[in-house]
Amino acid sequence: MVRTASTTLLCAALLIGPSIVGSTAAAAPAAQRSISFADTVRPASGPLVLPVVKGGLLNGLAKEADAAAGGAIAEAIRLAKFSGDPGKTLALYGKGPYPSVLLIGIGETVKSAVDLRRYGALAGKGSGAWPTPAQVVVPDAADVEHDAAEAALGVRLGEYDFGRWGAAPAAEAKPAAGITFLAPDAAAALTAFQRDGEAAAAGVRFARDLISTPSNIKSPEWFAAEVRQRFKGVAKTTVTVLDERQIQALGMGALYGIGQGSTRPPRLVAVEYRGGEPGEAPIAFVGKGITFDTGGISIKPADGMWRMRSDMSGAAATAGAVLTLALREAKVNAVAVLALAENMPDGNAIRPGDVLTSMSGKTIEVLNTDAEGRVVLADALWWVQEKHSPRLAVTIATLTGAVVRALGPDLAGLFTSDDALAARFIAAGEAAGEPLWRLPVTTATVEALKSDIADVRNVTEGGSAPGASFGAAFIMEWVQPGTPFVHLDIAGTAWENSGRPTEPKGAVGYGVRLFDEVVRRDEAASAQRP
Ligand code: BES
Ligand code: ZN
Ligand code: MN
Repeated sequence: MVRTASTTLLCAALLIGPSIVGSTAAAAPAAQRSISFADTVRPASGPLVLPVVKGGLLNGLAKEADAAAGGAIAEAIRLAKFSGDPGKTLALYGKGPYPSVLLIGIGETVKSAVDLRRYGALAGKGSGAWPTPAQVVVPDAADVEHDAAEAALGVRLGEYDFGRWGAAPAAEAKPAAGITFLAPDAAAALTAFQRDGEAAAAGVRFARDLISTPSNIKSPEWFAAEVRQRFKGVAKTTVTVLDERQIQALGMGALYGIGQGSTRPPRLVAVEYRGGEPGEAPIAFVGKGITFDTGGISIKPADGMWRMRSDMSGAAATAGAVLTLALREAKVNAVAVLALAENMPDGNAIRPGDVLTSMSGKTIEVLNTDAEGRVVLADALWWVQEKHSPRLAVTIATLTGAVVRALGPDLAGLFTSDDALAARFIAAGEAAGEPLWRLPVTTATVEALKSDIADVRNVTEGGSAPGASFGAAFIMEWVQPGTPFVHLDIAGTAWENSGRPTEPKGAVGYGVRLFDEVVRRDEAASAQRP
């Protein structure tokens, strides 16, 4: 008997586009593909996707499919000299009972969830244009059900499309035909995918939608409303929004000061998720949410300034991550804190040389209004420690051009004084496909924070300290004694310029999968403790 299990129902529940609060304009996102699982290959008119090992070898179910085609697939591999190198693809037509066969190289072997997601994304892309459903053989592995679910997540990550502003929804929202992954225990694969995969996909999708939205729409107020809306009905979550008056009343002069040049005032948003033990301290994810960064009075050059609509990617990642944790019912307490402000030049904007008083009482000489991210994070980080006493605090921010120059577009910078934490994050980043590279904060860099007229200054003059490390050192001034702390600079990784199988061009949602993985490892560790 052929068992299939479909996830269309859940899809419908998670199908959210960039709904625009207070605006009729909207992009039209493509609908998500229906994903299912089955235990055998069925004769069908749609494409069959097979993994090919390095050297052009077919294994397991792929080998069986070749036998059903009288060896014609292996013969075509040989004639085409198809190597099976990772990511290489070859399309065949009319082989045995299969009208279309798509071969995807996987190299020696798939080593990780990241490889499987990439395989799934390529399978999704390669089969998406066919009008009839595709079937996908998953590379041979120890845990086929889990692997099939990871490959299916690859489809979700790779199919993301923000859509085009103003396009008629009907024209673009037509989903591709379904896609079925083969696993002996189809029901188990579906369960794994629905529990973990769809949750991860929804978190990444939410972050990408927020990041992609243009900044004329994306004010701090709009952002807060979107977060509130998205978490409506999500179990065990609470959203708190502080408006500009509450921000001022709490003494958050840093967040308020950065936002005061904009007609659209700042917001501080907290999303709490309580899936862990009651009373257990949460993990805090604190994100930079500059809804647009002109640089302020220290204005940026025009070229490429448009990209600063993604300067809220850290905030988007914190909200996306907590959404993922909540949807998969992770056994953890977590809180996302979004420091939302628009950095604009204006008659009311702060000037270079102004001094702001942060919530902690520490004063900041703002020598460059374009180094605004660290300033808003100071208040958000202090606030979450006062309010939630987290057992770990993480800041995530598109903070510096310096980190892009140092590490390029594929690695985020990691800063912490805690070696064990650094190792945990680096390992989780590797597993999640969101890799990190640790950078130092030297005592000389901390020394460079000294201001002539305030407690600290937000930049050095003449680049006398390393830029990304100086930003990290600045934020660390607001870490309370005893709070384990990590800072991530994602200026290079938040936006994908060319497009990869699981990260289409544009907003990456970097951080969502990393934070999910960090928590997953934390859950596994605490399950082992007596
Ligand atoms: N948002 C930028 C950093 C950035 C640069 C993000 C490139 C993504 C891509 C940040 O607010 C900024 O302007 N940083 C300045 C700091 C400088 C004035 C010390 C920078 O890196 O140039
Ligand atoms: Zn910025
Ligand atoms: Mn800036």
